[in-house]
Amino acid sequence: MTDYGADLLWVLILASLGFSAFAVFFSISRQRRSHPPAVIHPAGEDVAAEAARKVIREFEKNGQSVDAALVTWSPETLRKILADDLPDAQVIVVSNREPYIHNSKDDGIELLVPASGLVSALEPITRACAGTWIAYGGGTADRLTVDKDDRVQVPPGNPSYTLRRVWLTEEEHQGYYLGFANEGLWPLCHIAFTRPIFRASDWEAYEAVNRKFADTVVAEARNERPIVLVQDYHFALLPRMIRERLPEAIVITFWHIPWPNSEVYSICPWRERILEGLLGSSIIGFHTQFHANNFTESVDRFLESRIERADAAISYGGQTTLVHAYPISIEWPAELLAKLPDVDASRASLRERFGLKADVKLCVGVERLDYTKGILDRFQALEELFIKHPEWVGKLVLLQIAAPSRGTLPAYKQLHDECHRYAEELNQRYGSEGYRPVVMVAEHHSQEQVYEIYRAADICMVTSLHDGMNLVAKEFVAARDDEQGVLLLSTFAGASRELLEALIVNPYDPAMMGEALLQALTMTPDEQRQRMRPMREMVRNNNVYRWAGSMLLDAARLRKRGDVDRATGTADRPPGIDNVVSMFERKRVAMS
Ligand code: F6P
Repeated sequence: MTDYGADLLWVLILASLGFSAFAVFFSISRQRRSHPPAVIHPAGEDVAAEAARKVIREFEKNGQSVDAALVTWSPETLRKILADDLPDAQVIVVSNREPYIHNSKDDGIELLVPASGLVSALEPITRACAGTWIAYGGGTADRLTVDKDDRVQVPPGNPSYTLRRVWLTEEEHQGYYLGFANEGLWPLCHIAFTRPIFRASDWEAYEAVNRKFADTVVAEARNERPIVLVQDYHFALLPRMIRERLPEAIVITFWHIPWPNSEVYSICPWRERILEGLLGSSIIGFHTQFHANNFTESVDRFLESRIERADAAISYGGQTTLVHAYPISIEWPAELLAKLPDVDASRASLRERFGLKADVKLCVGVERLDYTKGILDRFQALEELFIKHPEWVGKLVLLQIAAPSRGTLPAYKQLHDECHRYAEELNQRYGSEGYRPVVMVAEHHSQEQVYEIYRAADICMVTSLHDGMNLVAKEFVAARDDEQGVLLLSTFAGASRELLEALIVNPYDPAMMGEALLQALTMTPDEQRQRMRPMREMVRNNNVYRWAGSMLLDAARLRKRGDVDRATGTADRPPGIDNVVSMFERKRVAMS
């Protein structure tokens, strides 16, 4: 065999060994279901597989079984990946929404943790990595609580990372956040039949604010090679801006909302600019493969690029970006549940608070008041149930928790009014002395309060018209350590790809949802347990640390490849076995 042949064989064996180790590692944790795999790439798994093996070895050294390692993707696992595979890497998170908001109140300063899936997912990660989180400082007392560099150490009382606040003018916030992000991109990306509004002035503000955040990333970076986790549709231009100033940074962008098909996407007047901006990322993540495919199709249609579908890679302007699905999740709430009253006590206190009789079933909805969440459709399902099965009138209450959100925008004002009007109508039509079928609480609730509500509920309705993932669905099952309760879940929420034992519904079909409600109301405790148990297992195994860990492992792989490329003076190439082979070829040339 020639030297080249031996090397090639060696590479193939290693790649396949790495691949199998990684596949075994993840497939055991999948146990009984076919869950979307945690990012298994067709080739070049060496770094990822080695990191996985290291974690397993570590657990075995401590006398723990491999199974224990698999169910425990934890802050420790992340710290290990960082220490072993990305030594000295500074983790910088960028999002619009900050994890802690300080607001002025009559009696002092109030601390608020916003109702945001993004925040609940990223907060534990940033804590684990002791990173820096850059976000818009929107609280009325935010300026009073930072140091001279606009930084504040958080979480308050037990600080483990730095929050760096960015200040925006009224006009900037209006144009970038309310305007382009929430009246343009938000309805563009969600199929909820709300027309996107595009204004040139909003676009200008969006660009200017993205630049402001890029300046802040550069200012916060301790060296040329940070790992920057860019969050969401507020920052489509930021990845390229960072890339231009910090070419050695690893930029991982996560798009928390769906990506539309290329026909829908084509209506955006700045469609090419947005794609170019995002392709400054090293990795772009979506919740589902479907949305990742839509993104790739949009690039294919609007940019001159090279797409390696088998490698899930796009090369554009001399740089390669991986496009993958990483289903987001939650931190398993063991500590939180330990602090809460048990399920019976939660039920009792909630029933007392809302004056519910013992024989009344409680159905809950928990979300921001947003037109993508299908709140009106849920009310309609309740009405369908009452019409077809009137015996349930007086026996079921829907508690709707709706955190105020984007309330100055016309579409949100309209939704707010329609929800209140419809709830009132239902209460008049079907209510009676001491009984209101719909209780709508349009207020912010803390995480503890929300979990108490989940634990008191017989049914949780997640009826999004369209949703990237939806973490309420995962939180609900995580909250139910009694293995009781029924989840009704929209087929248009990413979570429906994972929580297969939920009652999957089409929110556009009120009759079907009414029947699903009946099925939930009459489900035996045994069936509830049979459904709840595997869903809990799924969320527990695929927690938010695994989500972040998958991306960091991919980042480590890219960094190592980049380092080899730099050392051998080779240009950027898409990943894949061809590239691994050519990398060895180039190395030989460089050495000879
Ligand atoms: O769902 C998309 C998203 O950005 C989430 O990631 C986040 O939970 C939510 O919207 C928050 O919206 P806002 O910050 O506008 O209140």
